[in-house]
Parts: sequence; structure tokens; C-alpha cells
Amino acid sequence: MRDWERDYICVIGSLNYDIIMKQKRMPFLGETYTADSITYSGGGKGANQAVQCAKLGIDTIMVGKVGRDTFGDTLVEKLKEYGVDCSCIGRSSSPTGVGVVHALEDGSVYASIITGANFDITSLEIDGLDELVRNSGIIILQLEIPTGVVEHIIRKAKQYHVYTILNAAPAKEIDRDVLKLVDGLIVNETEASFYAGVDMTDGGMVRAHADRLRQLTDGTVIVTLGSKGSMLLEKEGVVPIEPVKVEHVTDSTGAGDSYIGAFAYGKYKGMTDRQACCFAARAASVTVTKIGAQEAMPCLREIN
Ligand code: RIB
Repeated sequence: MRDWERDYICVIGSLNYDIIMKQKRMPFLGETYTADSITYSGGGKGANQAVQCAKLGIDTIMVGKVGRDTFGDTLVEKLKEYGVDCSCIGRSSSPTGVGVVHALEDGSVYASIITGANFDITSLEIDGLDELVRNSGIIILQLEIPTGVVEHIIRKAKQYHVYTILNAAPAKEIDRDVLKLVDGLIVNETEASFYAGVDMTDGGMVRAHADRLRQLTDGTVIVTLGSKGSMLLEKEGVVPIEPVKVEHVTDSTGAGDSYIGAFAYGKYKGMTDRQACCFAARAASVTVTKIGAQEAMPCLREIN
């Protein structure tokens, strides 16, 4: 067993092989629509967030599963190139997860995923990585692996006093007692609407119903709103985080993941929540200017 020290961020989550189609609009029912271009890219919310942390210069360890196939090989190779420690990525007999992304001209994104090998990770395997979990500086989680495993990790991390960030995406039911234990809960407007039980698709609605989200966890809650920025729901009030304007949005795939990885970087480096959110907004603003998720994510120099 490697001797882990508390000087790394651990991301436990999904790895997907993304197929990104750039197109002007979505097809109508029954229409065969011709897209403009196709890009193959490393993806999966977990892997994307790990890449953002690693690109910012933090030792980052990815825990997850890919299949014994060429997609799996490619994803692991790419992560290694970005400097992510892949020694805890397992192989399973299921195919590697896939993301099919339609990136429209106006910057909006429609995505579907096949979970594949991502769903083969078990709580028992996490128990085998006890030292890794216990000694993490921060653990980042999403909901593209089994929810029961995520709940198990959050309980464990709490027991070891490890700061946890949960990107509760895609939105799905999770034990509300476990959600309370999360230190940083980050959701987009769609997920916020799911967890709050009311429409939260604009900043005004988030502000009006902030308490519904605040009561989900004893930690920090952040709602990302795409081109409209993000909102930090502090106990004392809602803090709007202004978006960083960019000339042209090329592809917003992975922009949320970039935000989360950069937020984690900020917390790891001792920033306040506000400072970390502003830093994260700057990172995401760079990510949307290029195609793909991982390729587009900035290093520290590009953000500064
Ligand atoms: O957040 C973007 C990611 O969501 C994509 O890379 C896709 O694979 C899905 O997991």
C-alpha cells in the first residue's frame, strides 16, 4: 500500500469517452440533421474535474472504473498526460462510459451518457482505499457512479474530517442525512430545481428559494447558472458571482467541471468561498472558449 499523505485532491467518479457534435440546433422530430463537426474528447464529470485540478498544479488522484477496451485505454492515457495519478482506476468487464454531447451555436449543450463501467465501482473497493480517503486534502464526488457508493464515501470522509465537494449531477435522489454532511454542494440550475422542488432556472428564483437549498447541507451551497454566472448561498445571504465575459462561446461542455475543479483548488489553497467562486468563474470562462472538456481547461497561467 502506498503511503498517502494529505497533500492531494482525490476525485472519485466517472470517466466517459465524449463524442461532441457541434451543430446549429437540435433536430426536429423525424428530421435527420447534419451537424457541423465532431470531436472525440476525454470526459466524464469525475475525470474532467480531476484534469482541472491537475492542470492547476495540484497532485490529483482519480478513482473510478473504465472497461477493458480502447476507449478505456485512451481515457487513462489522456489523464496521465494531464498529470492525474491513475493508479486507482480499475478495469471492469463492462464497456467504458460514453457521453454524447450536442454543442449548439448559442453555447447550450445537450448531453446523454451511458454509465457503463462507471457503475461497477463498489463500496467494498472504496474500503480497500481507506488510507487514500483518510489522507485526502479534499475529496470531489459526482453522481455518475452508484449513489450508494457516493453516500458511503461521504460518511467515511466525514469520519476522517476530510473536506468533501459533491457535484450532485446528474440530479438524483440521495440520502438527505448524508447530503447534510457535505462541505461544498455544487449544482447547476436544473439540478437545483430538482433538489429544491421548485423552478430555479434563473437567479431570481434561486434567490427567492435559497433556503430550500441551504437546508440541504450544513456546508456551502453554490448554484452555477451558465452564462449568468453563479450564486454562493451563504447563511447570511445570497452572493452573486458575476460571470467573466468572453467574446465567443465555442463549447461549454465541461465548463461546470472546470468551475468545480478550480473551486476545489481555491479551497485547497485556503481561499474563502467567495474567492474560490470568483477564481472558479475565471477558470470556466476560459474553458468555454475551446472545444472539448479536458483539452479546453486552463492552467494557472491562463487564468491569471
Ligand atoms: O459535465 C460534462 C460531462 O458530463 C461530459 O464530459 C460527459 O461525459 C458527462 O459526464
